[in-house]
Amino acid sequence: MSRGRGMDKSIKLFERASKHMVKGVNSPIRYFEPYPFFVKRARGCRVYDVDGNSYIDYCMGYGALLLGHAFKDVIDDVRAQLSKGSLYCMPTEHEVELTELLNRCIPCAETIRLVNTGMEATYHAIRIARAYTKRRKIIKFDGCYHGSHDYTLVKSYASVDEMLSSAMLEGVASNTIILPYNDIDAIKDAMQKIGDDVAAIIVEPVMANAGLIPPSNGFLETLSSVCREHGSLLIFDEVVTGFRLALGGAQEYYNIKPDIATFAKAMANGFAIACIAGRRDVMSMLAPEGRLYQGSTFAGNPVCVTAAIATIRYLMRHRSIYRLMEKRCNELVSMMSDMVRDNGIEARINSIASMLQIFFTSNEVRDYATAKLSNTTLFKSYFKELLKQGVFIPPSQFEVCFLSLAHDDTIIRSTGEKIGRVLSILARELSKRVEVTSRE
Ligand SMILES: Cc1ncc(COP(=O)(O)O)c(C=O)c1O
Repeated sequence: MSRGRGMDKSIKLFERASKHMVKGVNSPIRYFEPYPFFVKRARGCRVYDVDGNSYIDYCMGYGALLLGHAFKDVIDDVRAQLSKGSLYCMPTEHEVELTELLNRCIPCAETIRLVNTGMEATYHAIRIARAYTKRRKIIKFDGCYHGSHDYTLVKSYASVDEMLSSAMLEGVASNTIILPYNDIDAIKDAMQKIGDDVAAIIVEPVMANAGLIPPSNGFLETLSSVCREHGSLLIFDEVVTGFRLALGGAQEYYNIKPDIATFAKAMANGFAIACIAGRRDVMSMLAPEGRLYQGSTFAGNPVCVTAAIATIRYLMRHRSIYRLMEKRCNELVSMMSDMVRDNGIEARINSIASMLQIFFTSNEVRDYATAKLSNTTLFKSYFKELLKQGVFIPPSQFEVCFLSLAHDDTIIRSTGEKIGRVLSILARELSKRVEVTSRE
């Protein structure tokens, strides 16, 4: 077992970390009971903690590390750039090259603004839509997450009621209309009533923040057609799906062109860069061409831009990796499905391209409401037992497991075996609980 060396150093670091960081972490999802492991290094599909334990990583920077940790092409180019400086705050040829590449890969990317994070991208995409349409309301979907800003934090799994009442201005929440994902009638109905006041519909084309939930047939097409009908803009939040579903993201995969799209995560294989891409007339709202101010010190910095160019160039040269990763993902899902059945566990596994998630429920999971019906206590045990086996998946039911190019056939088989062991442990636990309940 790869987690045999104890956790002494992680425990000590967690104690130190908790003195000056909130709960010892810098993003809530990184904390889990009783303390997270502390990472020393990573390579390929593996992370190594400070105690010398190794884990097969299925978190992969929450989708950012499409090509794997420390991917050579990217790291070599970044290293070369570092010796030439890390920030100029004036335009570079690199930015020109990157935006030309983005324009070639992404169907809607006529004009691009580089930013630093997904949250920044979705926040400004909404401001652009409001400025362009001169309307206030936006529609988002229950359970979709677009970053931790108030415009979209309403009803994402990351929000809590107290936060809404104490920290969010009322006008923000009242201008955010929430609809169930994959409900075509609800969207048609809502747009019939308020469509002419709606600046934009923002959507994760594949929902990856309530577990994994692909769009049902006709859902994305309906969003596109009601937006056109009412003069609202369609924003695809491709922070997860961008460069992962296909080189051109979900808009290429589903052949639906939004008015604006946001990208981050896999764009630079683990470096902090994001972008807003969209129709020229819409994007021209932004200063200095238009009057909508948006600026950032680190936007377009040469280090992250270099990482993005290296990543995208690699993907352009090796388009076949998408099929390969999907095949491996399907193999893992198929092994998991067999083991779920053999162990008599009620579970559903949703997957698409190189992403998957298991839900401990017998229901189909097609929106946030159905995702919430799954047994999250059992998911916690699943996560903890997998960690003991040396497999690191995101600690929450409402996240997604990501493969990278480094998850080869051997790793997939080994993961399948480890998951098999964990499922039989869970099955034994469940049957003990049933026995105790029936004795009572
Ligand atoms: C769909 C989606 N949009 C936006 C964001 C926010 O991105 P970032 O964490 O880079 O701010 C995330 C983060 O997980 C996301 O999953």
